[in-house]
Amino acid sequence: MKSITFGITGASGTIYAQRLLMHLNQSPQVSRIDLVISQAGVRVAGEELGVNLTGTGPRVVHELIGVDSEKVIVHSPNDIGATIASGSYLSDAMIIVPCSMGSLAAIASGITRDLIHRAADVILKESRMLVLVPRETPFNAIHLENMLQLSRLGVRIIPAMPSFYHHPKTIDDLIEHFIYRLLDHLGVAHDQKTRWEGSRN
Ligand SMILES: Cc1cc2nc3c(=O)[nH]c(=O)nc-3n(C[C@H](O)[C@H](O)[C@H](O)COP(=O)(O)O)c2cc1C
Repeated sequence: MKSITFGITGASGTIYAQRLLMHLNQSPQVSRIDLVISQAGVRVAGEELGVNLTGTGPRVVHELIGVDSEKVIVHSPNDIGATIASGSYLSDAMIIVPCSMGSLAAIASGITRDLIHRAADVILKESRMLVLVPRETPFNAIHLENMLQLSRLGVRIIPAMPSFYHHPKTIDDLIEHFIYRLLDHLGVAHDQKTRWEGSRN
């Protein structure tokens, strides 16, 4: 059973966070999810999904994924005394999806502006798995250097870049295929039917 720390920041692509949280919540392999949404994350979620993720508590989870969940604990980004701010709290992995360039830079430089950055800093110092899903285009040299630095520390940098080799018909197909890649990295089983099985030619 896995315990996963889940950050949502203010990059475009909150729908990826919504879908991934749905999958993790349904997975029998996941026992607990510690969710933190940055202030900018709340704003972008409002813009892109029309949801109000202000505050903490079960209402936020229901607003985001449409069901209640005892697995998901919502922390305030200002609560630097939360469980996930300490290395003594056992979290198997952390994922930030979508990850803004601002949060990526903060993590790369060790500056902990909020609980998401602190939790990521803890994951790094404890040598646990950190997965970042950055979203920006184009990248400038600062973005690229920050990603390189984190990659060299073992952080999995998985940009929100949909693929087309599985012949997606809908936006939903694109999103789901990308979410399966994230689940693979987190070691969470799923029923993906769109794995590449070699060329048909
Ligand atoms: C609608 C909207 C879309 C945004 N998209 C991105 C984005 O794709 N990538 C990014 O790095 N920042 C994006 N931003 C800017 C970030 O939200 C901003 O840099 C913020 O300070 C990030 O803070 P956080 O990392 O604490 O969430 C967007 C902002 C808004 C309002």
